[in-house]
Parts: sequence; structure tokens; C-alpha cells
Amino acid sequence: MKNKNLENKILENKNLENKNLKYALVTGASSGLGELFALKLAEENWNLILVARSEDKLKSLAFSLSNKFSIKVETISLDLSEQNSASKLFAIIQSKSSLASNIELVINNAGIGIVKYFDQSDANELTQMMNLNMITPTLLSLYFIKHMKENNISGTILNLSSMAAFNPIPKMSCYAATKSFILSLSMAIDYELRELEADLKIKVLTLCPGPAETNFFNRANYSSKKILMKVQSAEEVVSTGMKAIKNKTSVSIVGTSNKILVFISKFFPSNLINKMTSYFMGYNR
Ligand SMILES: NC(=O)c1ccc[n+]([C@@H]2O[C@H](COP(=O)([O-])OP(=O)(O)OC[C@H]3O[C@@H](n4cnc5c(N)ncnc54)[C@H](OP(=O)(O)O)[C@@H]3O)[C@@H](O)[C@H]2O)c1
Repeated sequence: MKNKNLENKILENKNLENKNLKYALVTGASSGLGELFALKLAEENWNLILVARSEDKLKSLAFSLSNKFSIKVETISLDLSEQNSASKLFAIIQSKSSLASNIELVINNAGIGIVKYFDQSDANELTQMMNLNMITPTLLSLYFIKHMKENNISGTILNLSSMAAFNPIPKMSCYAATKSFILSLSMAIDYELRELEADLKIKVLTLCPGPAETNFFNRANYSSKKILMKVQSAEEVVSTGMKAIKNKTSVSIVGTSNKILVFISKFFPSNLINKMTSYFMGYNR
């Protein structure tokens, strides 16, 4: 009788393990939106692969999430602004045997901004930002979509864009352009998959937050207090992202006032757009 109970227990545990095989990959998970995405996903029982440069922060987040939610958490410390970092990351994941085939969600979240006059920017700094914000998420999307297709996986890619994607922003010219690139790329790939290839299994979603309460503007040496837009909580941004993942919403703009702003700005004469975005950035304050 005792043996039978023990057998049942082992079987139960195995079943539990088998039920929870799905993994989400979150880049830029050591702080801000990425860290909160990791927490929300853990609450929903996702196993996680967390990527950023700060190894200690990732390890301590992994420790607390795996203990609190009984999930598996892997960390990969990698600089995603380096050339070839997407293929490096994909290779690391593939080398961890069963991991790659269980990834059903990829959140391309890691990103930085630069607030500076373009002619005062440093070429290396711009190149790193363009790699991090555009090249790496583009290639990760490519590798994972191919992999999901080949392995018949129903998967979602969520790419972090921004309100900055919709209009040019003086002194954030290159950053805004990287986010326009991500929005345009993701919308087109999502349409290809949904409508042209009629692949109902893979979705490429885009999340467009406005200025949010994270380290983002500190890193860019700009005070978010100057900005004449509502600064959103990380909570608001990430819950919109989680809803988008559930509902497979192609493009999600965070917050009603931002949705209105994007709509209105379509009717602004082009010579006033730069004035408007400079005003909202609060450069004169
Ligand atoms: N906060 C906003 O106002 C706002 C608004 C619109 C869109 N967004 C977008 O939201 C995303 C997340 O930003 P956030 O607000 O959460 O900023 P954050 O708090 O500064 O977090 C950025 C994350 O990206 C990681 N990261 C930065 N450089 C990296 C690199 N070279 N290699 C690997 N990881 C790197 C950071 O980790 P390590 O430093 O440890 O590497 C960190 O985990 C970005 O794509 C940003 O463009 C933010």
C-alpha cells in the first residue's frame, strides 16, 4: 500500500513537471519592464530564460522567482549590443538541449535611448544602440520564427517599440528611428504570418509604451520630470503587454491618452511634428 502511494506521488510529480514545460525568453530582464515581465510570467507559471548583462541581478531574480513560484529559471548574461549577439544567444539556448523546443514566447525588451543632438553623438554609442534596439531583436525574431515553424510550435514574439515610433523626435532622432523600425518590421511580419502565410500558430506583436517609470531616462541622462506627458507606471505597461500576449493583439499602444495622441498626430502638418514632439519632451523647461 505504502509503495503504491509512493508510486502515485512520483507519477503526480512527473505529470506536474510535464504540464509545465513552456518557457518564455525575456531580454533586458535585469530591471524595469523586463524584470516586471519576468515576475508576471512567473505568476502565470511560465518557466523563464532571463537575459541581460548584469549577471548578479539576473541570478538573484532567478533565485527569488524559482523559489516563490516553483518554476525553472535560466539566466544568460550577454551584451546584446554586440554584433552577432543574436546568433550567440540562439546558439547558447540550442546547446541547452530541451530548452529551445519549449520556448513559446520571446519578449525582445532590452533597449536603451540616447538623448543628444545627433551631431554630438558618438558613433560607437549609436552603433551599439542600433544593434541592441534593431539588429538583435530582428535576428532573434527571425531565428525563433524559423525554429517555431520547423518544430510546429505555437509561439509569440513580443517586440518592444515605443510611442517614439510614431513621429520623429529631435534629440532622440536615432532612438525614435530604431523604434519606428521595430514597429514597421513587426507589423509586416505579423501580417505575413497571419494573412499571407495563414500560419495561425505564430504571432509577432508590438508594444508601444509612452515614457515609463524605469531606469530608461536615467541611463539616457535625461530627467523624465521634464516630459509633458503622463509618465506611466511599469505595472501599466507590462499589464498591457500581458493582455496583448493573451489576446494576440498585433499593436498595443499603452494608455488611452497615448492612443488619442497617435491618432491626432496623423493630422498634424509635417512641419509642426518636430515642434510638437520637442514640446512634449520638455526641452525648453
Ligand atoms: N521606460 C520608458 O520610458 C520606455 C518607453 C518606451 C519604450 N521603452 C522600451 O522598453 C524597453 C525596456 O526599457 P526599460 O524602460 O525597462 O529600461 P531599463 O530599466 O533601463 O531596462 C533596460 C534593460 O535592458 C538591458 N540592457 C541594456 N543594455 C543592454 C545590452 N547591451 N545587452 C543586454 N541587455 C541590455 C538592461 O540590463 P543590463 O544593463 O543588465 O544589461 C535592462 O535589463 C526598451 O526597449 C525601451 O526602449 C521604454
